[in-house]
Amino acid sequence: MATVSFDKATRVYPGSTKPAVDQLELDVADGEFLVLVGPSGCGKSTSLRMLAGLEDVNGGAIRIGERDVTHLPPKDRDIAMVFQNYALYPHMTVADNMGFALKIAGVNKADIRKKVEEAGKILDLTEYLDRKPKALSGGQRQRVAMGRAIVREPQVFLMDEPLSNLDAKLRVSTRTQIASLQRRLGITTVYVTHDQVEAMTMGDRVAVLKDGLLQQVDSPRNMYDRPKNLFVAGFIGSPAMNLVEVPITDGGVKFGNSVVPVSREALAAASEKGDKTVTVGVRPEHFDVVEEGGTAGALSKDAPAGLAVTVNVVEELGADGYVYGTAELDKEQKEIVVRVNGRAVPDKGSTLHVVPRAGETHVFSTSTGERLTD
Ligand SMILES: Nc1ncnc2c1ncn2[C@@H]1O[C@H](COP(=O)(O)OP(=O)(O)O)[C@@H](O)[C@H]1O
Ligand SMILES: [Mg+2]
Repeated sequence: MATVSFDKATRVYPGSTKPAVDQLELDVADGEFLVLVGPSGCGKSTSLRMLAGLEDVNGGAIRIGERDVTHLPPKDRDIAMVFQNYALYPHMTVADNMGFALKIAGVNKADIRKKVEEAGKILDLTEYLDRKPKALSGGQRQRVAMGRAIVREPQVFLMDEPLSNLDAKLRVSTRTQIASLQRRLGITTVYVTHDQVEAMTMGDRVAVLKDGLLQQVDSPRNMYDRPKNLFVAGFIGSPAMNLVEVPITDGGVKFGNSVVPVSREALAAASEKGDKTVTVGVRPEHFDVVEEGGTAGALSKDAPAGLAVTVNVVEELGADGYVYGTAELDKEQKEIVVRVNGRAVPDKGSTLHVVPRAGETHVFSTSTGERLTD
């Protein structure tokens, strides 16, 4: 087992001036499951391939345990990688596929068989060991690819979108299996996905990348509760956090027909930047719906408190409902999503008045996107 460190690791592809991965600083603890997540093209695969030794590092260093592996060939790094396309050899049996790397390494047949059988047991593949990959389902092939990594007993597992070829249902069950398997084996794992739900459900910690730049590394809980900037706020969570630009007033911000209190420090930080507005983030589940005629706390008593949202679509999910609506903010139409009780959903075309629940707002600088509240 081992730690992994990216120390200002940078990759600039030939012919490009902009780094695909820009001074990545990231420490993965021994035995940790770290997920790299971000939109397509943000540099996830490049980061993983640098760690694997499949991509040159143009600046900085990469360490596995105490070893500087920056310029070591892949075979000397003691890692095993699982790719999106499982890259199984079609003419070999499952057992031969799983044991191939050991065979190349000169391990004797009996030891290979023992390791393959052990991995087969762990992965529920025992009865398929003599089959060819084409006689397996997608999920089973995916497990063979995992098995091929496991038998090598590497210091680090690297996985690049290993579930993206599976259908939605299988993806959900397999992600649980991989996460629990990793915990059982305790092997340090760096896992890449573009799917934030996968990242949040699987990772001990999650690292969010955008345009080759690391945005935040945190536990799923902290990532959700305290996103460091507007990008992370909008990327993590589904449906996404509502982000609305609102004017600063005395003691807070004007949110429709209400004032939402915001800490003095946050407001001072915004004014220092010369901003007249801040961007307030509210998750769909953190709105309270104002009762009919409720004007408590309203700025103008002629109208209900909060923000008026015209209901366009209601998504009924049983326990919950999601209202997709439109609000007018500073003469602009803004899409707003509100979670409501699934047994009392509003009618399409009606108007909801919503206020953010106290203590559940996130405040960001409109000009820099950085989080202002703690
Ligand atoms: N072999 C390559 N040559 C040149 N540019 C590349 C190469 N591979 C990836 N890129 C570019 O580097 C950036 C990051 O790519 P990648 O790491 O594959 O992103 P991700 O895995 O997050 O989708 C993208 O802009 C991509 O176009
Ligand atoms: Mg990729």
